[in-house]
Amino acid sequence: MQLGHHFEEGTTLDRFIFETTQAHPEATGQFATLLQQVSLAARMVSSRVNRAGLAGMLGGTGEMNVQGEFVQKLDEYANDTFKKALEHPGVIAALASEEDAKPFYPPERFRSGRYVFCMDPLDGSSNIDVNATIGTIFAIFRRKSEIGGPASMDDILRPGKEMIAAGYVIYGSGTIMVLTTGRGVHGFTLDPTVGEFFLSHPDIKLKPTARTYSVNEGYAATWDPRLRAWVESKKEPSATWSARYIGSLVADFHRNLLKGGIFLYPATKKNPEGKLRILYEAFPLAFLAEAAGGAATDGKNRILDLCPDDLHARTPLFIGNKELVDEVTALLAE
Ligand code: AHG
Ligand code: MN
Ligand code: MN
Repeated sequence: MQLGHHFEEGTTLDRFIFETTQAHPEATGQFATLLQQVSLAARMVSSRVNRAGLAGMLGGTGEMNVQGEFVQKLDEYANDTFKKALEHPGVIAALASEEDAKPFYPPERFRSGRYVFCMDPLDGSSNIDVNATIGTIFAIFRRKSEIGGPASMDDILRPGKEMIAAGYVIYGSGTIMVLTTGRGVHGFTLDPTVGEFFLSHPDIKLKPTARTYSVNEGYAATWDPRLRAWVESKKEPSATWSARYIGSLVADFHRNLLKGGIFLYPATKKNPEGKLRILYEAFPLAFLAEAAGGAATDGKNRILDLCPDDLHARTPLFIGNKELVDEVTALLAE
């Protein structure tokens, strides 16, 4: 299903979903419902994020997640909110989340769901307590197993190129949702006074190249020396390059998507496989990057050609304008 290009700014997300899915006579309406529920959950999380300091939502829950990271109250709230929103209308066959060790399979009465939803419910949790930008990232696959029957791990652990849609929501100075079904990347900004998303960034495109790099240079000593040399070469006296790093992947990606740049999270001593998770961080952003004319690799392979062997498998990630990603990938392949 292709989300269309012909919409003007100001179109509501609901109308956009309705009209683009209407154009597909074979559509059952489930995909439209799925996106509407994502929008609902996003608005709920957005409202909670805005009031976090007042709603007792700052700080940790005291628990550790499967990745050995401390769970923040907002991680838990976002996880529950997206799960509930997607379970009830019976549109998902399986859901994988950063915050859960195992996938969630809806109970039997909801097994007519046709889609598999993989999410990082709250990305950039370390930024919550300092009011910096955070977000939700998601990938959508069509289920492989028979509709009505039980789904399994085979529905979830598959190559990224089988994805049919991906997106993210950013809770920043404003709330924005960016979506693609593979062709055309569109951004919708939430008007909190009416509680609706409106098309604000139609057909986002990445230029071939740019001059911004985003990486946590604090780990430079443990990078591949070729990468260290590449980043060093950007600090030339003519100073035409800029460095930008927020520390929330979703926010760094979004800035680079709109303004151009490459985001790098290479292997480090602390994270020899890279830090970012394939299924719900690298996959959806790679799908968006390619749909906008950019690229994403792990330093050797195209991200969308990877197939995770675990829900929480990690990968190095180089993503953004195509020329820059190709340059870094070629350098690491030498
Ligand atoms: P999460 O909050 O979902 O665990 O993800 C955090 C990730 C990502 O958002 C960000 O790009 C990266 O961690 C930052 O890591 P460093 O602090 O190592 O730079
Ligand atoms: Mn994350
Ligand atoms: Mn997270």
